Amino acid sequence: MNPKQIIGEKATGYIKNGMTVGLGSGSTACWAIKKIGQLVREGLIIKGVPTSKNTEKLALEEGIPLVNIAEVDRIDLTIDGADEFDPAKNVIKGGGGALLREKIVASLTDYYIIIADSSKSSEILGNYPVPVEVTPFAWEVSRRQLEKLGCKATIREENDKAFVTDNQNYILDCRFVRIEKPEQLAVEINRIPGVVENGLFLNMADMLITTDEKGEVLILE
Ligand code: 5RP
Repeated sequence: MNPKQIIGEKATGYIKNGMTVGLGSGSTACWAIKKIGQLVREGLIIKGVPTSKNTEKLALEEGIPLVNIAEVDRIDLTIDGADEFDPAKNVIKGGGGALLREKIVASLTDYYIIIADSSKSSEILGNYPVPVEVTPFAWEVSRRQLEKLGCKATIREENDKAFVTDNQNYILDCRFVRIEKPEQLAVEINRIPGVVENGLFLNMADMLITTDEKGEVLILE
């Protein structure tokens, strides 16, 4: 079985009846959502909070009842993917462009599970460029400000045009290479006018489900 499927399905074992569940975005989270759909069809009662329009569509196709985030105070458990993780379970997210909704959902979550296969493991974050969601207005100014923090920032494109997020913003992918002080960097990024949110999810994950070199499931708590 594909490691993304194994860890995605493994994470659903932590869902209990009656929970409000944050539904992550991306190809790994997709496996968790499909499994949740199966569990719902078998009688599990939950309410899902999607982290992107794509996830909302998939969850509805799977028959998972959804609740509007505006009506939610707390989310019991969220399962989401990541683009890179370190041994302290700090992660970079936003490769799929859903980082803002993902971070809002994560911030409301009591127990946050990250699912990421071993290819995303790193001793120090920075192999993966940090996605930063910025307003389309004056995005070039935001890019210059971000580059002053020591990265090369590239506007994300799709079909030769700027990629537009679910929130009608742009993404700047910021290549830092080695992020020695992620907490400081996250604060400095978010201080820039025009920045909406950054893809550094620090001290948020309660559990990280990954795989080892042999493809066995590995759980970091
Ligand atoms: C989307 C994300 C995804 O969780 C992240 O990109 C991982 O995706 P995948 O599981 O497809 O590798 O943060 O914004």
